[in-house]
Amino acid sequence: MTRQDTRHISQHLSTCTLSVWLLRLCGKGEGMMIVWGVTLLLGGSAFALLQPWPLKLVVDTVLGSHEVPVAMADLMMWVSQFVPPVLADEKTLLLLILCTGILLIQLFMGGLTVLSTYILVAIGLRMVFRLRCRLFHHLQRLSLAFHDTTTVGDSLYRVTWDTYCVQALFNSGLIPALIASFTLLGIAGIMLFVDWVLTLVALAIGIPLLLLIRKLDRPMRDRSLRAAERDSDISTRVQETLSSIRAVQAFGREAEESQRFGRHADASLHATLRLTVLQSGSQAIVGVLLAAGTAAVVGIGAWRVLQGVLTVGDIVLLVSYLAMLYKPLETLAYTAATIQNAAASAGRVLSILDRTPEVRDNANAVPLASKTSGPIIFDHVSFAYDKEKHVLKDVCLEIPAGQTVALVGHSGAGKTTLVNLVMRFYDPTDGHLRLNNNRLQSLTLESLRKNMALVLQEPVLFCSSIRENIAYGRPEATNDEIEEAARAAGAHDFIQSLASGYDTQIGERGVALSGGQRQRLSIARAFLKDAPILILDEPTSALDSTTERQVLDALRRLMNNRTTLIIAHRLSTVRDADQIVVLDNGRIVEQGTHQDLVKLEGQYARLYCTQVGDQPSSLREVRT
Ligand SMILES: Nc1ncnc2c1ncn2[C@@H]1O[C@H](COP(=O)(O)OP(=O)(O)OP(=O)(O)O)[C@@H](O)[C@H]1O
Ligand SMILES: [Mg+2]
Repeated sequence: MTRQDTRHISQHLSTCTLSVWLLRLCGKGEGMMIVWGVTLLLGGSAFALLQPWPLKLVVDTVLGSHEVPVAMADLMMWVSQFVPPVLADEKTLLLLILCTGILLIQLFMGGLTVLSTYILVAIGLRMVFRLRCRLFHHLQRLSLAFHDTTTVGDSLYRVTWDTYCVQALFNSGLIPALIASFTLLGIAGIMLFVDWVLTLVALAIGIPLLLLIRKLDRPMRDRSLRAAERDSDISTRVQETLSSIRAVQAFGREAEESQRFGRHADASLHATLRLTVLQSGSQAIVGVLLAAGTAAVVGIGAWRVLQGVLTVGDIVLLVSYLAMLYKPLETLAYTAATIQNAAASAGRVLSILDRTPEVRDNANAVPLASKTSGPIIFDHVSFAYDKEKHVLKDVCLEIPAGQTVALVGHSGAGKTTLVNLVMRFYDPTDGHLRLNNNRLQSLTLESLRKNMALVLQEPVLFCSSIRENIAYGRPEATNDEIEEAARAAGAHDFIQSLASGYDTQIGERGVALSGGQRQRLSIARAFLKDAPILILDEPTSALDSTTERQVLDALRRLMNNRTTLIIAHRLSTVRDADQIVVLDNGRIVEQGTHQDLVKLEGQYARLYCTQVGDQPSSLREVRT
């Protein structure tokens, strides 16, 4: 996933596209909840529009000599029944009602805002939840070709942080923009009703404000995206360093790693600073525009009061509305920036969601019958990770059902790549593989992988109990089956010796296991899966010779009656294989049993002699 791809997607996301995307993330019944939330919020805004009126009446009618409006006179009549006579004179009663009004307006406004915010934020967070789940699920389905080129830290950042873009878009972008638009219309309407000249003066400021928003659109989006990328680099560094902490400490590279981290943190700091400069610069310009508007309204307004066109209360009312008018305008200005920010993150999320896995089920893929063990046939298979360099070249190989085929050869010869094609982690660039006469691509991935078990050099264990780890490939297995698999893998005894037995937690904050113990757990997992095809990629290379022997015993039991592809550097572990295949630079150069290959006196024989400590001249002894 290149950053250019992501930028390209971010820059082409319109607010309309983003809104449609948001609506698609809504769950059942949430459309109605949004309508409720928005209605309540609009109710709150309507109460806010009432706020300046009590003050105007206090100035004009209580302090001044204007007449009490008719509606207010009716209200005063009704209220006067409930107040003591001492408060019943006209001005006192009006003041009492207006002060109570200020309080009630605030109470209703606050109540409606709290309720609507709760509803709308809950919907926003649920959208984040759904997007995270969808992204995580999709990331798991993407082929290794994607994961080879994307760091875990970057994916982590996209799932954890970039997914908040939907909430930002919804709760800080679109909803405030909607409410601000309504409020703007409401205020403009009331102001027009009071005095159209001052309303036009106030609204004139909206034009430069809108031009400013448009001008800042692209730079704001670019800088937001860059800041997110730099932050993601930090996650990547932390993830990479901490996951290789042994190597870092063993080579004493802490200082260099800290420096490298420092450089990334510094880049992030500068990217965020550049964004902040742009944001605060735009805020300052907005502030100046607002001040110019206020000055114009106050100046012209006071002049019109002096001329007797307006009352003092009208000026109080208009200045109050002016302050309220600029709030939604400001909101709209910053909403645009929020939408840019969210669009940048949305681009980073969508660039993953839009990506289809290179390896996926064909439209007419059929499931592989369970317990299909072969034969596996490589028919003129070639493969390249990147187009220039072929890693496997015209490989033809037949692995008969139930047989053990060993792959040997120098490091980088293409052994792991070859077994990766059998598991369909990648598809060949040329030629094809067949399993039991079905092309691999015509079978469903799930059924194919159900028939295979994989044991790697570095066992992959998860942070959960030993029991769950063994049952990873078959979660429905019974305790007896799990124990039986552990016995077969030679793991039962050491598991029993642990204080919590099969319930012992391993991994982070759990017990640490030795390499041999971990490998026996992964063999137990393969036993339990009971798949007819077994792929072993240097399962004992990381172990000392005593542990290797124990693990090899377990492996031999596991390989019994299964089609096995085993990769080994120590040739002593594979000399009993039915067939040994020597790979060199992506090609099969020798093939046969141990005896055949020793007789051939080729690459295998040389490798074997080096390993058993013989010289090529003493091959004759080896042959016997
Ligand atoms: N994910 C990848 N992307 C690009 N090139 C790769 C990738 N994995 C392996 N290669 C290249 O493909 C070639 C074969 O690698 P492969 O891992 O299959 O070798 P191998 O025989 O298993 O080696 P080893 O014995 O060291 O495990 C190497 O040149 C390697 O650099
Ligand atoms: Mg390998």
